[in-house]
Amino acid sequence: MSATILDGKKLAESVRAEVAAGVARFVAEHGRPPGLEVVLVGEDPASQVYTRNKQKASMEVGIRGELHTLPASTTEAELLALLERLNEDDAVDGILVQLPLPSQIQEQKVLDAIRADKDVDGFHPVNAGLLASGRSGLVPCTPRGCMKLIALAGTKLEGARAVVVGRSNIVGKPMAQLLLGANATVTMAHSRTKDLAARCREADVLVVAVGRAELVRGDWVKPGATVIDVGMNRVALPEGAPGGKTSKLVGDVAFEEAARVAGAITPVPGGVGPMTIACLLENTLLAAKQRLAKRG
Ligand code: GUN
Repeated sequence: MSATILDGKKLAESVRAEVAAGVARFVAEHGRPPGLEVVLVGEDPASQVYTRNKQKASMEVGIRGELHTLPASTTEAELLALLERLNEDDAVDGILVQLPLPSQIQEQKVLDAIRADKDVDGFHPVNAGLLASGRSGLVPCTPRGCMKLIALAGTKLEGARAVVVGRSNIVGKPMAQLLLGANATVTMAHSRTKDLAARCREADVLVVAVGRAELVRGDWVKPGATVIDVGMNRVALPEGAPGGKTSKLVGDVAFEEAARVAGAITPVPGGVGPMTIACLLENTLLAAKQRLAKRG
């Protein structure tokens, strides 16, 4: 194995320590902590874990707020009414509705209903538009975390070839905008891209966010490239696996193969995942500061 392993857990710890210090300054200045409200609708087990982790991490840095757990039968009108209340509440700086939502609720309608200046996920069309036009707004947490990991690798983006695999609104599209903003030459690849392996092989920086276990093989990676693996896929282990384990988490990149070729690579778990939560805390503090600064 030759690649540098990019330790997202360690980097996230340093981001969280910075946020904690920023929160303490915010409290000293404004007499209250930044507020983050997390909303979970339904009982999806992965979403339950993610929202619990988000709530716990925010408490640890001094951010305050509630985890709202609503039943799977919640109507769109009920969820919109809660968001309206949180939008109006002056002690609330950030609002996050965990995705996916149950089928009776239109996701886009919900994301559009969160005030753009409290949209710590960066999913509101105003924030997406600000990012696309190179202006400052709230930037989605996972791409923001990926940019910090690329910086940790010491990769120069100016003029570099960057390939983003996956075109979701949550990761792929904002990721491409951030890379473009850093003067990389960006290709967006997706499920219909012809000869995906060849496109990946061109990448000095390869970001993969498609949710397909170990799609990207070692021979898809350019020697020395920086590889950022956003995937989190649970795969079954053969019977009799060590420790009696029945499944494990893998990324969208075949890690062992790719690590022999890449210059730097993120592991799964312990790479992008911890950075997403750390960047959510950063976004919450930023939203709180920007909202109060606007008021003067
Ligand atoms: N579901 C999967 N990733 C995310 C995320 O970053 N934010 C929200 N709100 N839901 C998600």
